[in-house]
Amino acid sequence: MCGIIGYAGKRNALPVLMEGLSRLEYRGYDSAGIAYVDGNHNHPIHIIKEKGKLIELRRALSLVHATPHIGIGHTRWATHGEPSRRNAHPHLSQDDNFAVVHNGIIENYQEIKSYLKRKGYTFRSETDTEVLVHLVQDEFRGDVLTAFRNAIQRLEGFFAFVLISRHSPNELFFFKRSNPLVVGVGKKENFVASDVPAILPYTKRVVYLGDDEVGCLNEDSFKIVRLKKPTPVQKRIETVPWNLEQAEKGGYHHFMLKEIYEQPRVAEETIRKRLDFNRQRIVFDTLSFHANWRLKHVRKIFMVSCGTAYHAGIAARYMFENIARVPTEVCVSSEFRYSDPILSKSDIVVLVTQSGETADTLAALREARKKGAYTLAIVNVVGSTIAREADCVIYTHAGPEIGVASTKAYTVQLLTLALLALHAGYLRNKIPPKQFEEMLSFAKHIPSDLKKILQEAPRVDQCAKKLYKKHNFIYLARGFSFPNALEGALKLKEISYAHAHGYAAGEMKHGPIALIDKEQPVICIIPQSKTYDKMLSNMEEIKAREGIIVAVATKGDRAVSKFARWTFYVPKTSEFFSTIYTVVPLQLFAYRMAVLNGRDVDQPRNLAKSVTVE
Ligand code: G6P
Repeated sequence: MCGIIGYAGKRNALPVLMEGLSRLEYRGYDSAGIAYVDGNHNHPIHIIKEKGKLIELRRALSLVHATPHIGIGHTRWATHGEPSRRNAHPHLSQDDNFAVVHNGIIENYQEIKSYLKRKGYTFRSETDTEVLVHLVQDEFRGDVLTAFRNAIQRLEGFFAFVLISRHSPNELFFFKRSNPLVVGVGKKENFVASDVPAILPYTKRVVYLGDDEVGCLNEDSFKIVRLKKPTPVQKRIETVPWNLEQAEKGGYHHFMLKEIYEQPRVAEETIRKRLDFNRQRIVFDTLSFHANWRLKHVRKIFMVSCGTAYHAGIAARYMFENIARVPTEVCVSSEFRYSDPILSKSDIVVLVTQSGETADTLAALREARKKGAYTLAIVNVVGSTIAREADCVIYTHAGPEIGVASTKAYTVQLLTLALLALHAGYLRNKIPPKQFEEMLSFAKHIPSDLKKILQEAPRVDQCAKKLYKKHNFIYLARGFSFPNALEGALKLKEISYAHAHGYAAGEMKHGPIALIDKEQPVICIIPQSKTYDKMLSNMEEIKAREGIIVAVATKGDRAVSKFARWTFYVPKTSEFFSTIYTVVPLQLFAYRMAVLNGRDVDQPRNLAKSVTVE
């Protein structure tokens, strides 16, 4: 999830681009850069880029004395290629006549890269982005917009691009698919940006681009056409009603809520990246032949992680044992070393981590490597320490997560681990082809189902309004839902400061049942599953003791509503994927409870997003 800004107008473009980039800083990034067309007679393109914080780029720019009137800027959150100056955007075409910035992923970049290499193009970075800029050069026959459109039509994936060219030195060219992009309309100046905050100091008048819309702008006007048909699209100029702080959160009150609502989109991106429906295959591009061989012949898997990622590890145990038939053990990273784990060369230690920097998980990784196990990291932040040190890495690509309480990173961890378990099951010949196909078709519905679950928000609100003064909550679940009893309780604790405890429902009789009376709220997670009837019996027992039941159940389930005071529904899916569904109402519930209690949702007391001390 990178940030993009482009400017054409009377001002000096460099401070405008820097201001824009600094307004995107809140999202976090690993490198930044700008490109501008020099006003000289032959309009060369200049590029300045640096790894690290904006201060580095600012320092480099302080040595530049040009005052260009057109340029593009970018903050990078690495997807392909480590964070480095070389991989930072903008990227230049081979002939130096085009420069591009990019947000998103070009799925078929390898194929295009080979095609371009055969034609004599050389690559200066490891990014997928670079293929687009060479392709534009390749397609150029005198008109930049046509070349840009033709080049994009050869790409698969979801992305936003902004391009400048020496051949058309007063114009910016832009394209959007699945990644946000807006045109900012000013007086004698126009902008394009991935996020509204980048242009808010200059204008509140914006045009939101639709998918597969492509266009160009100069200081006086802008033009938008469709990718496949160059007839102009009429667009409405809208006025942004937000101030800067609201705009950073995309109009949501908190980053956490924004991130909860991003889940359908990030799930869709994961599905599009990992599932090849034509060939009925799961694709993990970073798994080498050797890594796949390890997965096929693995003796035992250890899932090692902390916090929310630990709950993803527990979910993964159910997934790997169920579908890939691999014995799987789950450990919290901080305990892993001290149990002196028995590891062999045929074991895989899977480290699950959003940040890739958690000290305990890093220490566990080093211990595992020392003991000779193969290490596989499931990481969100590209180029992080754990990603670099593991034998092999799979990125979750959930984009930057700013809210301390993890939401979208968890759902993408669950989805990625589910697909990895299916992939392992396939490699190990443990899944009949028909079942495999069936699972892929369930997976296909996840993004649209997540959207439906978010529509439960008003019901969640009603429930939270009745319960927000309570200080003790019990969360119960069984089987695939069990990790969400822990995760739901953790979310509530983290941001509302109410005490909450998650249990495997079978354990209820061994203690928690003593707490149940007419004041005690119990959240029961009970989607359709093998353990449904047993869970229903638990609910009956709670009801008999007058406990206040809140249920998360499958749409259409009437039996549950006999016991529950409130029920949040999720669409029907395979039990295997149900963990991805049932957590969403629990996130919404924790969020509402925190807001009603007046808590600092995005930065709860005493907690940190990335825990880099043991
Ligand atoms: C902190 C964060 C949690 C996160 C945990 C593990 O406690 O607040 O949201 O789950 O660290 O972090 P990791 O980056 O390794 O997933």
